[in-house]
Amino acid sequence: MKKETQIISSGRKKEFTHGVVNPVVQRASTVVFESVADMQHAVKNRANETLFYGRRGTTTHFAFQDAITQLENGAGCALYPCGAAAITQTILAFVKAGDHILMVDNAYEPTRDFCDKILVNMNVETTYYDPLIGAGIEDLIRDNTRILFLESPGSLTMEVQDVPTLTNIAHQHNMLVMLDNTWGNGFHYKPLDFGVDISIQAATKYIVGHSDVMLGVAVANEKHWDQLRENSYLLGQCISPDDAYLALRGLRTMPVRLKQHEENAIKVAKWLENHPLVDHIRHPAFESCPGHEFFKRDFSGSNGLFSFVMKQSNQNAITALLDGMHHFKMGFSWGGFESLITASLSVNHLRTATGWDKGALIRLHIGLEDIDDLLEDLELGLTRYQAKL
Ligand SMILES: Cc1ncc(COP(=O)(O)O)c(C=O)c1O
Repeated sequence: MKKETQIISSGRKKEFTHGVVNPVVQRASTVVFESVADMQHAVKNRANETLFYGRRGTTTHFAFQDAITQLENGAGCALYPCGAAAITQTILAFVKAGDHILMVDNAYEPTRDFCDKILVNMNVETTYYDPLIGAGIEDLIRDNTRILFLESPGSLTMEVQDVPTLTNIAHQHNMLVMLDNTWGNGFHYKPLDFGVDISIQAATKYIVGHSDVMLGVAVANEKHWDQLRENSYLLGQCISPDDAYLALRGLRTMPVRLKQHEENAIKVAKWLENHPLVDHIRHPAFESCPGHEFFKRDFSGSNGLFSFVMKQSNQNAITALLDGMHHFKMGFSWGGFESLITASLSVNHLRTATGWDKGALIRLHIGLEDIDDLLEDLELGLTRYQAKL
């Protein structure tokens, strides 16, 4: 079955949909049992799509979990109230005091903060590594290194990692590999096919796709699914059935939305590439993006999110650009239907293994608007930028 077809047919077992196309929104805290035998059956099968207790999920959750498990080619999917929770709780499900973890230097900022502000107090030490380190990762591995955490492409600077090389080395040292796959979204990149043990996503972004739900997912391979599921349950992680329903509805149209985001973003990036104020484009599909060769080798496509670097910059120029934008709104949570813009004079404060000695970094999320309107907005914005240099 082709992946577009799989996204349409997954999560639609009869017991979830009751004769209509979408699953019923089943709300529950308490599940009631008619007999001791029924209750014992539920206890025994509670990890296996059997109603047991609201926190373990209802048929709406099971339908969504089935679809995401198939999307990521895994053994099972745990649900969290947002992407940040999916990341932190997945790490917590596998570390103990005294462990050491390796975290990619371009990780999403709250992922770094979790390591620096919470793991550190649990006596779990973090070492940040260059996303392009490749086989050099071996030098950073210690006897107590438990987790190798990847994000590819990474936040803001967009470096793409050599995942098979990294997972091979990590597994030789009995480590567990996790990857924040929010950009690759399971449609264009399936980390478990490249040796990753757990793929994590902010479903808030392209899966939900409409900027109206916070949601996180983590899909584990066979070896790690039991521990991920049970520890996430013990940590109290669960989501509302309404959010599971909306996310499953968003997933159905994700491939066609992605196609349009990708087409629009490539047009905008090509236009920017030739703009005299722009130093280079950080879009994984462009040669100027570090790790582009791994994108070409491992991904089947891109989406609407990319960055670009300015030749000259100052805060007044950035403010003039951002303040007057018409279609590009300033906002952080990308992956919806709308275009967004953010900009930073430097990202040096977010990099400890690599640093940043280049100009201002502007990140765009290219939405589903008409491309001419977007280009006009950017053209006027860059004229305002130039006037303040
Ligand atoms: C790469 C990445 N991972 C995780 C998250 C966190 O997702 P959420 O906002 O759902 O907590 C984000 C949000 O921007 C993100 O960009």
